Amino acid sequence: MRMVLCGIALVAVAPTFAADPSDEAHRQAVARADRAVREAASVAAKDPRRPAFHFQAPAKWMNDPNGPIFFGGKYHMFYQLNPYGTEWGDIHWGHAVSPNLVHWEHWPVALAPSKDRGEDHCFSGCTVVADGVPTILYTSIGPKTRAEDTAVQWAATSSDGMRTWVKSPANPIMTPALNGGNTVRDWRDPFAWKDGGVWYCVIGGSLNGKGCAVLYKSRDLKAWDFVSVLAEGKERGWECPNFFKLGDKWVLTYSPHGPVRYKIGNLGSDFQFTAEREGAFDPSKTYYAPTSMVAPDGRRLMWGWARVKGDGWNGCLTLPRVLTLRPDGRLGIEPAKELEALRGTEAATEQPAAEKFDLTLPAAAESGVEVAVTVTPGKATRFALTLTGKDGTPSHPMVAWDQKAGRIAAGETAAEFQPLDGEDTISVRVFLDRSILEAFVNGREAITSPAGYDFAGCRTLAFAADAPVGVSLKAWPLKPAPAAYPAQ
Ligand code: FRU
Repeated sequence: MRMVLCGIALVAVAPTFAADPSDEAHRQAVARADRAVREAASVAAKDPRRPAFHFQAPAKWMNDPNGPIFFGGKYHMFYQLNPYGTEWGDIHWGHAVSPNLVHWEHWPVALAPSKDRGEDHCFSGCTVVADGVPTILYTSIGPKTRAEDTAVQWAATSSDGMRTWVKSPANPIMTPALNGGNTVRDWRDPFAWKDGGVWYCVIGGSLNGKGCAVLYKSRDLKAWDFVSVLAEGKERGWECPNFFKLGDKWVLTYSPHGPVRYKIGNLGSDFQFTAEREGAFDPSKTYYAPTSMVAPDGRRLMWGWARVKGDGWNGCLTLPRVLTLRPDGRLGIEPAKELEALRGTEAATEQPAAEKFDLTLPAAAESGVEVAVTVTPGKATRFALTLTGKDGTPSHPMVAWDQKAGRIAAGETAAEFQPLDGEDTISVRVFLDRSILEAFVNGREAITSPAGYDFAGCRTLAFAADAPVGVSLKAWPLKPAPAAYPAQ
C-alpha cells in the first residue's frame, strides 16, 4: 500500500513492537553484573577461607537465599547479590542450578535493580510457576519506595526456562494500600504457595513496633487481597517468613533480626495461626534469613545465609536441611541425604567404654570433613571431639557437650541442649568446611558456626569424656564441590 499526500510518500508498514526500553536496560544491567562477578571470581577462589562445598556466589557479597524451586529437571537457587562489592548494597538476584543439591552451576544473574523505574534494590522473595510461567515475586526498594514504610512487591517472569527474567508490566503487584489502615513497616520478603486454585502469600514486617507475618491471597498473582495478620511477635520486626505444612501442622519460620525462630501450630478457618510449640531454628548469630521449597519427592528443604567471609567474597548458604514433623510433634532438622555424595573413604571406630581415644582420617581434612558420632553418656557429663594435627596442634573444636551447663557447642558456637526423656544417646553430624561448620544434633537441632579455616595436616579426631562412654564414630574427608560456571 502506498499513499502520496502533498508530494510526500507515506508508506504504511506492518506494526512492529519495539522492545520495552526498560527491559533492554534491565538486560544490560544483568550483563554488567554478570561480568563484574565473573571477573572477581578468580580472587575469591584463591582465598583459603573460601568454603569448598557450601554454595556461594562466584564472588563479592551475597546474603539471603531466594526462591529455591525445582523446575525443568533442576534445582534452582537464587540469592541476594551485590556484584560490585563485598559489603551489602546494590542488591541483585544471583542464580544457580543443580541436578542434585550438591553440585551447583552459576547461571546469569536473574534480577538487577531497574534504576530507570526507580528501583535501587531487588530484595528477597520467592519463585513460583503459575500456569507454566516461572514467576519471581520480590520486594522492590527505591528512593520513593523506601524499605521502612513504602516498600512494594514486584513480579518478574521468564519465557526461556528461567535463563532470563523480565519485570512484569503489572508492577507493582502489591502496594501498602493492601494493608488498609495498618502501616506495616519493613514490609518485605513475599513467600507464596498455591492451595485449592488460590495463591497465598505471606509477607514479613513490623506492625505497631512488633514483628509480624501478614497473609494475602490472589487468583492470578496480580490482584491481591489482604487475608489476615497471621502471627505477631515480641521482636521489633520479622523478615523472610516462610509458612508451610508439615504433616497435619503448619510451620512458620521467621528471621527476627536475631536468631531464626519457628512456630508449629494450626491454621483456623479464619486464617489465624495458633502456635502450639516454638523454638530457635538455629540459635547461631551466623545463620539468618532461611527460605524453603518442596523437592519433587515431597521433602521440605531449607537453606539459610551464613555470615562468614574472606578475601573477595562475603557470605555463603548453609547446607540443605530437610524439615519434618516428628512423631513427638517437634521439628525434625537433618542434612539432605544427597550430601553423602561428598564423602571420601570412611574411617570408623566403635568404643564400648572409652574416656579418650583418637581416630585418624585417611586424608587431611583440608577441603572438609564430615563426622557422625553417637555417644551413650552413661555417667559422663561431658564429652568433646576435636580435629587436630598429628602432635595435637592446631586444634579445631568440632562438638562439645556439657550436661551440667545444659549446652552443646558446635565449633565456636554454644547452644542450649537438654536431652529429652528417652534420649539415651547424643548423635551429632558435623560438617566442617574451612570457615564454616554446621552440626545437627539428635535430628532436631541445627547449629551453624564460624570455623578456623586452616586444617593443613589435620587428620586426627581426638575424643575425650569425663567418664567411660559408649561411642560410635565415623568420619569422612569430603570432596570439594564449589559452584562453577558452565564449561564454555
Ligand atoms: C534479610 C533481609 C531481607 C531483605 C534482604 C535485603 O537478611 O534484610 O529482609 O529482603 O535481606 O538484602
